Amino acid sequence: MKKIGVFTSGGDAPGMNAAIRAVVRTCIYNKIEAFGIHEGYKGLINGAIDKMESAGVSNIIQRGGTILKSSRSEEFKTVEGRKKAFKSIQQFELDGIVAIGGDGTFTGAKIFNQEFNIPFVGIPGTIDNDLFGTDFAIGYDTAINTVVEAVDKIRDTASSHNRLFLVEVMGRDAGFIALRSGIGVGAEAILIPETQTYVNELIKKLKSNTRNHKESMIIIVAEGEELGGAYEIAKKVKEKCPQYDSKVTVLGHIQRGGSPSAMDRVLASRLGNAAVNALINNKTNVMVGIVNKEIVFTPFAKAIKHHTNINMELINLAEILSC
Ligand code: F6P
Repeated sequence: MKKIGVFTSGGDAPGMNAAIRAVVRTCIYNKIEAFGIHEGYKGLINGAIDKMESAGVSNIIQRGGTILKSSRSEEFKTVEGRKKAFKSIQQFELDGIVAIGGDGTFTGAKIFNQEFNIPFVGIPGTIDNDLFGTDFAIGYDTAINTVVEAVDKIRDTASSHNRLFLVEVMGRDAGFIALRSGIGVGAEAILIPETQTYVNELIKKLKSNTRNHKESMIIIVAEGEELGGAYEIAKKVKEKCPQYDSKVTVLGHIQRGGSPSAMDRVLASRLGNAAVNALINNKTNVMVGIVNKEIVFTPFAKAIKHHTNINMELINLAEILSC
């Protein structure tokens, strides 16, 4: 390995900059030249690639977003697009690539690796935490903290007005953000796509909370919830219980921004370092993750196909503590 390229792709996540810094500095430590590829696969296709020096990644560990920018490239999904990307790799003589992103990023990397045999190592960077092969993806912890901070504020107004709030959080088709943040805010109910939601059961629960003298309530709704988003659920609740003064808040993209938590910074630093070491040791087509505090490697195909199962213990805990 003489030259390694790094890019961020898909939805940005807090801690991606810390990962870029770790990749660049580990390369330099090992006398490998590091190259930044701008806007993910789009930059690979267009040859938007620059050499990166140690000073270029100073003062970024604390910054949200990604200094390399990100995109979801439609062109890379075509054979023509991938041929152009291969040409850029040849032109810049890159020996390996570190791709920081989520399942879309690794699906692209897997196909590209099969077609052109370019060594790729992936770093999980997604607030959704929906990849198999790592306990935590970069950005997840910060996103949870953002949700908790926001819902604490909503709780103040909910409690002042005796209201029922339905708060919708991100996660695409997974409920990891909803479940963890729901426990963190002491939500009265958490609705996630991994478990079946019955409106009657939900109403029963809300009524029992009212009987227990709870005057305000918070329901966390995952955006991928099979019954629909927070507005949809609010409508269904209103039909059956018009007496509730209910409001909806969709937290949206604030969950993707902000300075990364200490946990995300350390995670990103470890994964960035491990990804470069993996390329040096001829590991390819794998995602690097941390399971039970240890670095592990998972083939792309497995990382993207199997979500880590939702933790049933946490679901039970949320149920017990919300009575
Ligand atoms: O994958 C991260 C994520 O924020 C999801 O939670 C969400 O569904 C999606 O990206 C939103 O994507 P975009 O920013 O392209 O609208």
